[in-house]
Amino acid sequence: MVMARDSLTLLSIQEISRETGLEESVLRFYESEYGAELPDKILRGDVLSFPVAAVEVFRQLHARRMATSVPQSKIAAAGSFARVIAVTSGKGGVGKTNLALNLAIELQQLGKLCLVLDADMGMANVHLLAGVNPTLSLMAVLNDQVAMADIIVEGPAGIGLIPGGSGLVALADASRPERLKLVRALEEVELAAEIILVDTGAGMGVGVRDFLVAADDVLFVLTPDITSLADSYGLLKALHQERDFGGRPVYSVVNMVHSLTEAADVAQRFADCAQRFLGQEVENLGYIMKDATVGGATARRTPYTIFRPQARVSINTRNVAKAILKREQPEIRLSSSFGRFLERLQGKL
Ligand SMILES: Nc1ncnc2c1ncn2[C@@H]1O[C@H](COP(=O)(O)OP(=O)(O)OP(=O)(O)O)[C@@H](O)[C@H]1O
Ligand SMILES: [Mg+2]
Repeated sequence: MVMARDSLTLLSIQEISRETGLEESVLRFYESEYGAELPDKILRGDVLSFPVAAVEVFRQLHARRMATSVPQSKIAAAGSFARVIAVTSGKGGVGKTNLALNLAIELQQLGKLCLVLDADMGMANVHLLAGVNPTLSLMAVLNDQVAMADIIVEGPAGIGLIPGGSGLVALADASRPERLKLVRALEEVELAAEIILVDTGAGMGVGVRDFLVAADDVLFVLTPDITSLADSYGLLKALHQERDFGGRPVYSVVNMVHSLTEAADVAQRFADCAQRFLGQEVENLGYIMKDATVGGATARRTPYTIFRPQARVSINTRNVAKAILKREQPEIRLSSSFGRFLERLQGKL
């Protein structure tokens, strides 16, 4: 005997996923955001079930979310395109992710609307350091499952965070319409923030290069380690061979230093090489001391500037944030960095 489906029938989240065509992660996201609008769920152990009526509610919620753009409540409109700063290095493990995140927090506290875009395809980990647990990433935007606004999570001090890792890998292989979709979504975000810090993976991987060339400013993180200098110089040289790179402001920050003299020496050597062999000016924006506060903060999944605002690393980072603001180009940014990114991608298709 076939049981008729009545209002008492319960459907698992997997069954609802099949009926609506929405991924489970998206359904769970709607469940956490709009629990009050959904029929009462039933949770047995890990198994989540809903009455049949939930299918229609999930469909309606999805239609509603897809119709909205970046909500003004999450990020107030900034009026012009954001300044996009790519944080990069030739060598891994030099402190890019920590710096991008903590700089964003300091800049936000200095009154700028900031977003961090996690563009590290190898290991997207900004969210781990920020202590947030995003369920969605750019991948869901690419798959048309959610709008960009849904994946931006609010991080410490009110910064926005775009968890992007796997979505960006997909972008490199995606078809043209998919690339267009994603970059349009990024452009929309660019209109809604003032500064976007892009945490890139180390080196010159596919996709990272496009971000570096498209960014308004490129910030190299150096350390006193001799290979850091050589690898960063290698990356800068490779960037110089890319079309459209010339004229971009390039900055350095020296991380994990033991003294001011050491920091000045590393910055000077990098700037000298860049000037002499590439004719590229590199301006130093400051230094960050080597400090156990960073490890302590990571263990607590709290950014170090929040964990200990008066620690040396935090004060150093604040000074770098101020130096960035001093170098703000006064004119309103009328061209979009992600638009340039798109043009580069299109040029390669
Ligand atoms: N100023 C500092 N003092 C002490 N330790 C630091 C400092 N900056 C970063 N670290 C430590 O160095 C390690 C690498 O930091 P982080 O992950 O930010 O680097 P990364 O350049 O993003 O690395 P990857 O290339 O793997 O993405 C971490 O263990 C971090 O705690
Ligand atoms: Mg990193």
